[in-house]
Amino acid sequence: MSMLRVENVSKRFGGIVANHEVSFEVDEGRIVGLIGPNGAGKTTMFNAIAGFAPPTSGDIWLDGRKISGMTPEQCARAGIGRTFQVARTFTSMTALENVMVGCFLHERSQSKARASAEQLLEFVQLGRFRDRPAASMTISEQRRLAVARALAVRPRLLLMDEVMAGLNPTEVRDMVDVVLKIRGIGVSCLIVEHVLEGIMPIADAIVVLDYGRKIADGTPAEVSANPQVIAAYLGEE
Ligand SMILES: Nc1ncnc2c1ncn2[C@@H]1O[C@H](COP(=O)(O)OP(=O)(O)OP(=O)(O)O)[C@@H](O)[C@H]1O
Ligand SMILES: [Mg+2]
Repeated sequence: MSMLRVENVSKRFGGIVANHEVSFEVDEGRIVGLIGPNGAGKTTMFNAIAGFAPPTSGDIWLDGRKISGMTPEQCARAGIGRTFQVARTFTSMTALENVMVGCFLHERSQSKARASAEQLLEFVQLGRFRDRPAASMTISEQRRLAVARALAVRPRLLLMDEVMAGLNPTEVRDMVDVVLKIRGIGVSCLIVEHVLEGIMPIADAIVVLDYGRKIADGTPAEVSANPQVIAAYLGEE
């Protein structure tokens, strides 16, 4: 059984149809890329899956349990973690404190939250930034910090929204390494990304949205060769 099942999800904002009857699945232990031109409805889909803005119609299931309509906290408790396209890092707090914010979903004890946060910082190669204010970190480091904070809610599925945008090739490789490590610990990843050289080599499957509709899904090789996908991306240039 697939872990995440998105079933005929539509989302309207007044006259704008941001998602139109989109269906796809994410299997356990997979990296799935959700790609498409600007305004295709990718972040809207993340907001539906994570409970930030419920679909207008359609359903979303995690492990056979319906999560569409749940609040963000209920979705997090059900096993959905996420990062935000527009960074929500607390820049005046230290790296450790930023991650502890996520840990408090499951942990009341300050010392246990601290210990988990320390482990997560090591996991994303940010151990040395522990006591540094997040504001002093580069964009690349802050993106990995956001991933650590999302992991702190102990997700079964992690949604990452453009965590590679604007990074140089070395930094993209660092993020790719983190994503592979996340899959390695058994957490599935659904990744919205425009940096195709980051996502294509590591994805088990790719779902393509265009103007709110799913226009293709399959292996990276299949979607790269799909004429509709090529046309959608050429149209964007
Ligand atoms: N809260 C909102 N109110 C009104 N329209 C919205 C809202 N959120 C998104 N939209 C519209 O829905 C469509 C899809 O937006 P969305 O942010 O999901 O796209 P995206 O694929 O994430 O794009 P990008 O790659 O630029 O981040 C766009 O036309 C956008 O303007
Ligand atoms: Mg977006």
